[in-house]
Amino acid sequence: MEKQELKDFNQNNIRTFGRRHGKKLSIRKQWLMENLLPQIMPKMADFSTKSVILEIGFGNGEHLRDLAINNSESIVIGAEPFANGVAALLSAITNESDNTLIDEYKNIRVHPDDVRLLLQDFENIKFDEIWVLHPDPWPKAKHEKRRLLNHDFLNLLSKHLKTGGKIIIGTDHWEYYDWIVNELKQTRLIIKSTNLDIIKTRYQIKNKAQTSTPKYMILSN
Ligand SMILES: C[S@@+](CC[C@H](N)C(=O)[O-])C[C@H]1O[C@@H](n2cnc3c(N)ncnc32)[C@H](O)[C@@H]1O
Repeated sequence: MEKQELKDFNQNNIRTFGRRHGKKLSIRKQWLMENLLPQIMPKMADFSTKSVILEIGFGNGEHLRDLAINNSESIVIGAEPFANGVAALLSAITNESDNTLIDEYKNIRVHPDDVRLLLQDFENIKFDEIWVLHPDPWPKAKHEKRRLLNHDFLNLLSKHLKTGGKIIIGTDHWEYYDWIVNELKQTRLIIKSTNLDIIKTRYQIKNKAQTSTPKYMILSN
């Protein structure tokens, strides 16, 4: 994206994530960020595959890796602006001996930035599944505007969904869950089911919101 376009984007899209960088990366992870990452960023050709799955805010990528293994015929795209999370994923999907991609993860693509930039770059692309697990809850009232899953963004996701496609959202922050249900009223999306086995992501294991169970919703147009 050109500088002016990026400026316009930042003005129109409020920041929904916390840090971009954490502690200094190891030499291996830094190497992977510089050399492997550019090779596995999403390209137009990826969308000619029959099925494409998107995970938004994959954290360290535990669930993204499961998606890749369980959907070996699909392209699985992860979007995450937190560099240390991206580096953790790259480390986990490569052989330590020679930094090559492990075979079962060859269908993974990584967009190391805000997902809204990806959706802007590929504006006519549609997905079979879109996953959002434990989106940042921004619990303070003054930060509510930072919540990613507002009706504008849900409408954008709805536009990027194939016929019969689904959006799967999970959060252990029940207040955010109810807030999303309310936002859905301003979209054409409907809740098809709330039934899903608990998915143990890193965030869920830490159980930051200190609620006992995450709640899920599966949406479709
Ligand atoms: C609370 S963490 C959960 C991470 C992971 N899904 C898990 O369950 O362990 C939320 C993640 O969403 C990412 N995120 C927030 N806004 C985003 C955006 N606009 N595009 C992509 N990722 C975003 C953050 O960087 C953060 O890693």
